[in-house]
Amino acid sequence: MSQENMSNDNVESPTEDPTDDDMLLETDVTSGLEEGTQGSRTTHERTIVEAKDVNVWYNQDQALRDITMQVPENKVTAMIGPSGCGKSTFLRCINRMNDMIDAARVEGELYLGEKNVYDDDVDPVALRRRVGMVFQKPNPFPKSIYDNVAYGLNIQDIGGDHDAIVEESLKRAALWDEVKDQLDESGLDLSGGQQQRLCIARAIAPDPEVILMDEPASALDPVATSKIEDLIDELAEDYTVIIVTHNMQQAARISDKTAVFLTGGELVEFGDTKKIFENPDNERVEDYITGKFG
Ligand SMILES: Nc1ncnc2c1ncn2[C@@H]1O[C@H](COP(=O)(O)OP(=O)(O)O)[C@@H](O)[C@H]1O
Ligand SMILES: [Mg+2]
Repeated sequence: MSQENMSNDNVESPTEDPTDDDMLLETDVTSGLEEGTQGSRTTHERTIVEAKDVNVWYNQDQALRDITMQVPENKVTAMIGPSGCGKSTFLRCINRMNDMIDAARVEGELYLGEKNVYDDDVDPVALRRRVGMVFQKPNPFPKSIYDNVAYGLNIQDIGGDHDAIVEESLKRAALWDEVKDQLDESGLDLSGGQQQRLCIARAIAPDPEVILMDEPASALDPVATSKIEDLIDELAEDYTVIIVTHNMQQAARISDKTAVFLTGGELVEFGDTKKIFENPDNERVEDYITGKFG
């Protein structure tokens, strides 16, 4: 989708029928619009994840500063920036994985749809059913391929026809044809690229709304990387994908929106990927994109 959008540039086109835009605005993207950088007339994407002044500390050290951004639904949003600038920390805010790090303290508001995921009544386990995650290093469990994919269904007590869900998830992860005759074999016997697609199948089986990916291809060879990139493109038809990558070409290839984090845990610029890479507003972003540092 990214290539298409980048060439047609139709996602943000102000010439599109304003009625449709208004209807979308009525329904979903109203919260926080006043803080957005785009005027309400030109914003016609639904926001699914919204951060408002998110700050994170590890003990005394601040890792993120006043992060405010709106992630559009069913798009690919990339987060780039030099090592240590807080990309993984931000990703872990979205599904409250930072809860598991004793030193971490999160302040601010983080909405999934209408709900602040940091409200007292939010169950992090239920949240993680709605927000799946894929990590840098493929981490299948020492279980069969089938049981890996069905894992979330079992621990979350999700009913339905598990055989059908496992098959569908493996198909969506572009792995089914390669493993359909060996579902009982260990997930650990697959190649690295297959393991990562297995982890993606595991993440999508509970039918989340958002899939977080933290450098999902950086441990893979170029062929496996390319398969993952194609897959991300397809996933964005049904899911919202938020991906951290240190590979700027990858961000440019696969994402619709790009957030640039820079040292000190600041979100320096967030916008359409095409604009970020071709004509960023911020000079530090320009320097980073053009390789002057990072
Ligand atoms: N579990 C942790 N405990 C303490 N400090 C951490 C922890 N995780 C990350 N940090 C620190 O927070 C900052 C941001 O890290 P991180 O989010 O991993 O950045 P990135 O993903 O952009 O490389 C870094 O200074 C890092 O050392
Ligand atoms: Mg990281």
